[in-house]
Amino acid sequence: MSRIKTIGILTSGGDAPGMNAAIRAVTRAGIYNQFNIKGIYRGYDGLIKGEVKPFTTENVSGIITRGGTILKTARSKEFMTPEGMQKAYETCQKEEIDALVVIGGNGSLTGARNFGMEFNFPVIGLPGTIDNDLYGTDSTIGYDTTMNTIMECVDRIRDTANSHERIFFVEVMGRDAGFLAQNSAIACGAEAAIIPEELMEEDQLAAFMGRGIRKSKKSCIVIVSESPKCGALYYADRVKKEFPEFDVRVSILGHLQRGGSPSAHDRILASRTGVGAIEAIIQGQRNVMVGVRNNEVVYVPFSECIRTDKPFNKKLIRVLDELSI
Ligand code: F6P
Repeated sequence: MSRIKTIGILTSGGDAPGMNAAIRAVTRAGIYNQFNIKGIYRGYDGLIKGEVKPFTTENVSGIITRGGTILKTARSKEFMTPEGMQKAYETCQKEEIDALVVIGGNGSLTGARNFGMEFNFPVIGLPGTIDNDLYGTDSTIGYDTTMNTIMECVDRIRDTANSHERIFFVEVMGRDAGFLAQNSAIACGAEAAIIPEELMEEDQLAAFMGRGIRKSKKSCIVIVSESPKCGALYYADRVKKEFPEFDVRVSILGHLQRGGSPSAHDRILASRTGVGAIEAIIQGQRNVMVGVRNNEVVYVPFSECIRTDKPFNKKLIRVLDELSI
């Protein structure tokens, strides 16, 4: 048994459906294995300010079904400074927290790695982000639920798009990654996806319009990855100017993509990685993210999962192209 007695748990960055299931899993597996668990509220900001509360199994009762995070979350600027990190470390000392479990995306795990290295402190990460952009795990907690939410929304948009025979540009989240856009386009039977991974490669709108819109098609749905300059509005404007014969509309799905009860896939992923985090602590591992690859729990060093871009499978582009004729 390791000398770690108390484990602090926090959620950081954008919330994702399944974070609560992960909090529950870490808490219950931790208590099962005789650790004390402390919940840290509002991410790294709460760690800096000392917003810490002892957790029992009751604190996590009934939360597996709930979206969001009961621990609240934040994107902490202060934690990125040496002074902020020092304060966070002092909270750990005061609260007798010997190890941290951080649930979050790329930025949050970068903070986790820096903290672990600076203070030689055991930190374990869980991949919590709807963007699915973390290397080393097949999917991230929240991604599957968000995919299903997008699918439901686009199915509805298709009804009205069909009725009016319109082209719809539907913008989805993903930050710099096109996993949500490309795969939701396949799942919805969309006519095209415009993704950041291909922005430099080709003019994706020109390629789509160039393929020609089949006369028998009643509508077209193009899923566009969010982007400050080239989002759905940008492409809709271009079509209005370059192809005025088409009736175009835009739908930006926004934050509704982040809410809702987690899917079975996300609940199981969160539960397995949460138990995996406690196992990692028992084994004396540190500075690793727990993921699931090929249906096996894996431990990926922070240095790898943060620095390496998750590979985008280009075959998915072909699948969509072939099926959208
Ligand atoms: O990283 C998750 C995410 O939802 C991204 O897809 C999106 O770009 C961003 O967070 C939005 O952040 P905020 O909630 O701060 O607007």
